[in-house]
Amino acid sequence: MKLTGTKYGCGGGGCGACTVMVSRYQPATKTILHQAVNACLLPLCQLQGVAVTTVEGVGSTKTRIHPVQERIAKAHGSQCGFCTPGMVMSMYALLRNKPQPNMDDITEALAGNLCRCTGYRPIVDGCRTFCQEVNCCQANGDGPCCADKPQHDAPQLFDQDDFLPLDPTQELIFPPELILMAEAGSQGTRTFRGERMTWVSPASLEDLLQLKTRHPQAPLLMGNTNTGPDIKFKGVVHPLIISPSRVKELFEVTQTPQGVWVGAGSSLSAVKSVLEKLVAQFSSEKTELFRALIQQLRNLGSQQIRNVATLGGNIASAYPNSDLNPILAAGNCKLSIISANGESPALFVLQGEVVRAFRQAPRKESALATVTCGMRVFFGEGSRLVQELSVYYGGVGPATVSAAKTCTALVGRPWDDETLSRACDVLLEELTLPPSAPGGKVEFRRSLTLSLFFKFHLEVVRSLRDLVGLQPQRHTTVSESQSAQDPVGRPVMHRSALSQATGEAVYCDDLPRTEGELFLALVTSTRPHAKITALDVSEALQLPGVVDVVTSKDIPGKKVRRSFGYEEELLAEEEVSCVGQMVCAVLADTKAHAKRGAAAVRISYQDLPDPVLTIEEAVERSSFFEPRRLLERGNVTEAFSAVDHVYEGRIHLGGQEHFYMETQSMLVVPVGEESELRLYVSCQWPTLTQEAVAETLAIPSNRVSCHVKRVGGAFGGKVTKTTIIACITAVAAWKTERAVRCVLERGEDMLITGARHPVLATYKVGFMDDGRIVAADIQYYTNAGNTVDESILVIEKILLHMDNTYDIPHLRGRAAACRTNLPSNTAFRGFGVPQSLMVLENMVNDVAMVLGRPAHEIREVNMYRGPSLTHYKMEFDPENLLRCWDECKAKAELSARRRAVAQFNQQSRWKKRGLSVIPIKYGIAFGEGFLNQAAALVHIYKDGSVLVSHAGVEMGQGLHTKIQQVASRELRIPSSKIYISETSTSTVPNTCPSAASFGTDANGMAVKNACETLYKRLEPIRKQNPKGSWESWVNLGMDWDKMEGRPYHYFTYGVCCSEVELDCLTGDCRTVRTDIVVDIGRSINPSVDIGQIEGAFLQGLGLFSLEELTFSPSGFLCALGPSQYHIPAVCDVPLRLNVHLLPDSHNPHAIYSSKGIGEPVLFLGSSVFFAIKDAVAAARADSGLVGPFPLDSPATPERACLSCATPFTQKIPAGKPGSLKPRAVNI
Ligand SMILES: Cc1cc2nc3c(=O)[nH]c(=O)nc-3n(C[C@H](O)[C@H](O)[C@H](O)COP(=O)(O)OP(=O)(O)OC[C@H]3O[C@@H](n4cnc5c(N)ncnc54)[C@H](O)[C@@H]3O)c2cc1C
Ligand code: FES
Ligand code: FES
Repeated sequence: MKLTGTKYGCGGGGCGACTVMVSRYQPATKTILHQAVNACLLPLCQLQGVAVTTVEGVGSTKTRIHPVQERIAKAHGSQCGFCTPGMVMSMYALLRNKPQPNMDDITEALAGNLCRCTGYRPIVDGCRTFCQEVNCCQANGDGPCCADKPQHDAPQLFDQDDFLPLDPTQELIFPPELILMAEAGSQGTRTFRGERMTWVSPASLEDLLQLKTRHPQAPLLMGNTNTGPDIKFKGVVHPLIISPSRVKELFEVTQTPQGVWVGAGSSLSAVKSVLEKLVAQFSSEKTELFRALIQQLRNLGSQQIRNVATLGGNIASAYPNSDLNPILAAGNCKLSIISANGESPALFVLQGEVVRAFRQAPRKESALATVTCGMRVFFGEGSRLVQELSVYYGGVGPATVSAAKTCTALVGRPWDDETLSRACDVLLEELTLPPSAPGGKVEFRRSLTLSLFFKFHLEVVRSLRDLVGLQPQRHTTVSESQSAQDPVGRPVMHRSALSQATGEAVYCDDLPRTEGELFLALVTSTRPHAKITALDVSEALQLPGVVDVVTSKDIPGKKVRRSFGYEEELLAEEEVSCVGQMVCAVLADTKAHAKRGAAAVRISYQDLPDPVLTIEEAVERSSFFEPRRLLERGNVTEAFSAVDHVYEGRIHLGGQEHFYMETQSMLVVPVGEESELRLYVSCQWPTLTQEAVAETLAIPSNRVSCHVKRVGGAFGGKVTKTTIIACITAVAAWKTERAVRCVLERGEDMLITGARHPVLATYKVGFMDDGRIVAADIQYYTNAGNTVDESILVIEKILLHMDNTYDIPHLRGRAAACRTNLPSNTAFRGFGVPQSLMVLENMVNDVAMVLGRPAHEIREVNMYRGPSLTHYKMEFDPENLLRCWDECKAKAELSARRRAVAQFNQQSRWKKRGLSVIPIKYGIAFGEGFLNQAAALVHIYKDGSVLVSHAGVEMGQGLHTKIQQVASRELRIPSSKIYISETSTSTVPNTCPSAASFGTDANGMAVKNACETLYKRLEPIRKQNPKGSWESWVNLGMDWDKMEGRPYHYFTYGVCCSEVELDCLTGDCRTVRTDIVVDIGRSINPSVDIGQIEGAFLQGLGLFSLEELTFSPSGFLCALGPSQYHIPAVCDVPLRLNVHLLPDSHNPHAIYSSKGIGEPVLFLGSSVFFAIKDAVAAARADSGLVGPFPLDSPATPERACLSCATPFTQKIPAGKPGSLKPRAVNI
């Protein structure tokens, strides 16, 4: 159908990129039900009789865009745009059911849609314009009102008055023939036969029972949210599938005096809606269980999942951490299994009961729980003694677990502290988890069983005798007296936002199939370090559709990529050095056939001893990539003898997966003449890809053209790794002389392409009583993985930023890249700087804790002041840094809020707040001088339209939009006359990568230069006809031996203050407020820049508090998709997020006085880490623990909870050394 708007981001229901709307006529009520669902889990066979609306059916730039599309686009909610169609569809489905939603509806609707670029705020801002209610900070219920603030008078980023009104009568009608079909009812059993599966859909309960009796192994397919992922990712094959979606008994709901009967086929959304109606109907004591169930259902999966997943499916799937089974069991619900006359699940409550459900998940929404539970206590009429108690846990065993002994031990007791203490003792004995229990996190899970019970205790005590909602953003922006036509400095919408919102924007995998095109699937190593003894592809070649297999032997040119004197094989030939290393590639006519072929390739290995996985192992065995680097100023060793205090600490920082929404994608098309190849690649550096492919095929670069239309997010992950995969794909196209497409699955992408470098740092710091840091000696080790990639450049950047904003007179840093048997790590937004600054700020924090003073005071005492020299002797003026600092403290009302936080913490035992202020100084430019260049080609056509080609790649950062603004100013014509089609090596050669926050600086200058030249050439013509219309006229280095240089053109400064509220019992954390002040000179486009700031901040928040890359002890990446790896979702946006651009700032070193902003702000996400640390410190103080304590990054709920050292965590016995075979290693 060539509908390309619906995107594929994960295939497992975890990202929402594939959201479509399914509409179904319900004959019983004669109503149409519209639901947002994940297309990737929706079986086609189940769509008989339903209408599916994709983003193309909502609106189009050619006919009429829909208000949802317009508002998300104009509110700057689309950057790379890959998530945008899914966002549009979730919001559209909500509006079809509820044209005037409230903010809770919107956040619930968007909770299952991930975005890696925007930070969500602009998306929510666009969607909130559909709300009728006033949505301001008062929704949170405290503090001064945002409406009273002068910032409301400031220029807005978009004008609401311009928006198209929402008119529900203009929506597509439901196809009348489908209504007739539904009214006519089901007729007979339906059967669909596929290549490997048969799908049978019985029309009656009787037929269903007979079918199931004949085929007991066949699953009943309802929502497909359990069976689907098993088929897709675990290779499970079901020859027969039974789909009972037409068996009406499975969907019946009947109310009885005791409660309600709910058909097992009811979707979880339907169950929630039934329960909500009952809660409204009955008194609260009769609906205890219903309310507890509703609470669990609110956080179970996403709206899209709940719309299809069924009650029966959840119960029958029997997940160890099912959210429903514990509460259904605790609530005494009844379940009837396969009986025509039997009962369906019955939910009922007795008076005198307290029923509660709790869950703790790595992320508040759309994440499977770590531990979940349902608890019910019954006291009997007028009694305060426990008569009945049911406690069930999920996540602490292979299935839902009953704490029966604990319950028995408490019966007959009063509900008091002694009972609580007894409960904790028995629970500890009863619910043991072996040290190597599946799922890991043993200590955390055991402590959660206690603290969740304690939460229940508090609720029961309360019944025997809060802060949410997203804050709308209003920004100040710099504005000048300039011509109305000049777009520079104005918040211009992303030039492709409307195409992205309508699904018309073309990404690599949207390119139409070419004749005879093949699909490439990679075969990767399953061993961390081994010799390849045999490669058997015979079975794969026999499979239907498989055409060929490409191995290293097929590479006609260079079989390796070389950097820093090390070689990286494109395809492993004799030895593998990590799990996930590419060994060969299978080519087939379809993706499914290629994947089946890849699964059939047999590789035999001879394991090599003792693979190196962790930094500690690498250091012990001196496994490093050379050169190692050293940077030093002053006399560090001597300085330590003259200070008041010396403190030594360490911190480990985990890696971070790029999680660009569009996975690695490419299409290589042989032209068929003189070795010419066209590459369509989603990459950041077309020139590198072009050169690498030419070398691999041993052909000149002039035969290879590399084209990049747009990239669905990259963040550094689409430079070197993309190039290698492109080379392999090009070899396949070369060998077969056919076009070859390669689009990685999310799991493959995460496995193969590496991540941000984990860092282990140790430091020694010498400081005075007044807080002045006199000397610091820091050792950094990064986990580089199995190849050098860009790791040496990363350690250099770590050392160049190790001073951050502090003037430390005696400073020494050593850095080494560790060679390990893990997938090679690579560039990631910030390129080592976030890790470097994190180590330093942690050290400064420790100094504050030793001295018992607020950390911001120590930061302030040590700031650079006046004309300064970095530790590598680069001069700079920190004036704007100090202005950012003062402005952030003022805007964040630091002093008043510190007092409020202290007061809150004094009054609250189990919830603590923390506050931190973090500064950055970020050097902008490439360290290598030759990369700081760009070129542009500007065509003025005879009709007056202008085509601009430049070297930069648009990957959501708004580069093309800013370039359009530059050309518009220089040529003095409206932006609408200017078009940017793609980035191509055939129009602009020898380009630098779009990275290092340098894209606009370099390419903007090149375009400016080209436009100036053209405008000048037009001067004689303009002079002849001055009143005529446009149509009628128609460029560093760092000396590492001398340890000095000017590796950067200038610095971008910023300061961020974040406040968090931490639930010490579970580690659950919410960022209450964040204030960011950034000096980005004079912004060319404030909306684009603010979008970059918010997106980078949230990515940093993810890096330092949420995202955990876990590897098994044998080097397998455990997290291969959004269900296991949690990037921030809409629920993680700070409740109040204020971004301020420092006014009156100028920058003579970049175009129009602007500054690079893509990367610097990411580190400001660490303010959340330090605020969590502050809150943890407050909790520890209550337990009598003061002074520095270790907290590694990310500060996950597990780490935060265990660090709080509450009485519950202290009860968990420490594992005996040697008793634990860890499930995951800290790499
Ligand atoms: C992205 C994602 C997030 C999720 N998050 C959560 C979460 O936070 N908490 C949580 O608890 N769960 C979560 N789940 C799991 C989800 O709730 C279950 O997969 C779902 O409820 C199963 O229902 P289904 O209709 O899709 O089952 P299907 O996949 O259709 O079937 C699953 C199994 O149940 C059996 N079955 C189905 N219906 C019946 C019936 N009526 N009688 C007997 N057997 C039956 C089938 O034979 C099959 O073996 C998540 C799933 C996904 C994909
Ligand atoms: S692609 Fe369907 S949810 Fe991710
Ligand atoms: S704009 Fe959302 S993922 Fe890029």
